[in-house]
Amino acid sequence: MNTQESIYGAHRPALEQVMDGLRRHIENIRSEMEQKLSMDPIEHCLSRIKSEESMREKCRRNNLPETTESALNILTDAIGLRIVCAFVDDVYTIRDCLKESGEYEVVKEKDYIRHAKPNGYRSYHMILRTKAGYFAEIQLRTISMDTWAALEHHLKYKKSVGSRAALIEEELKRCADELASTDLSMQTIRDMILEA
Ligand code: GTP
Ligand code: MG
Repeated sequence: MNTQESIYGAHRPALEQVMDGLRRHIENIRSEMEQKLSMDPIEHCLSRIKSEESMREKCRRNNLPETTESALNILTDAIGLRIVCAFVDDVYTIRDCLKESGEYEVVKEKDYIRHAKPNGYRSYHMILRTKAGYFAEIQLRTISMDTWAALEHHLKYKKSVGSRAALIEEELKRCADELASTDLSMQTIRDMILEA
């Protein structure tokens, strides 16, 4: 593997720059919102360049050649950022700020919050394209949604559930729905505090 050329070719430094730029952009949105709300809207923000191995695996899974073209122009998540917010409204406010900035073109959006996946997964996904033509995947979600996604991800690797698979899926879905309902209640409490 070490002797193999990177799937990102000579683009790795550029990818790092785009990712840092996005992080700075999100930090600016965060401070502006913090002044308005008198609360920090972001619980945490993670960013990563997809590892060499995961990117090659994703190419194979999608029947794509393991090339820089596939990694940067066909697949769109070489750069990934996950923004975890305290409240649901903040997810949509940050989304609007990112869209309105004019810095990035929004090429794809999936609202898995209003339209949860059948398994209960919730998050707002956006694919952005920079002026230089690099893509980035942004995932926006609340703390509850993030907790659920992390736990569900853990459980995906637990094999041998066998005949109980359906029950487990049903229980996970129920937990996701309960968390979503709690998110709405927490949002209502925050609105009451902001109005007071
Ligand atoms: P990928 O091939 O995984 O990138 O999926 P996709 O092209 O269909 O895109 P989608 O927007 O559905 O998912 C992108 C990313 O969202 C995934 O790589 C995960 O990080 C996250 N995700 C989507 N669905 C789930 C889910 O059911 N559970 C968890 N834990 N994460 C999910
Ligand atoms: Mg992905």
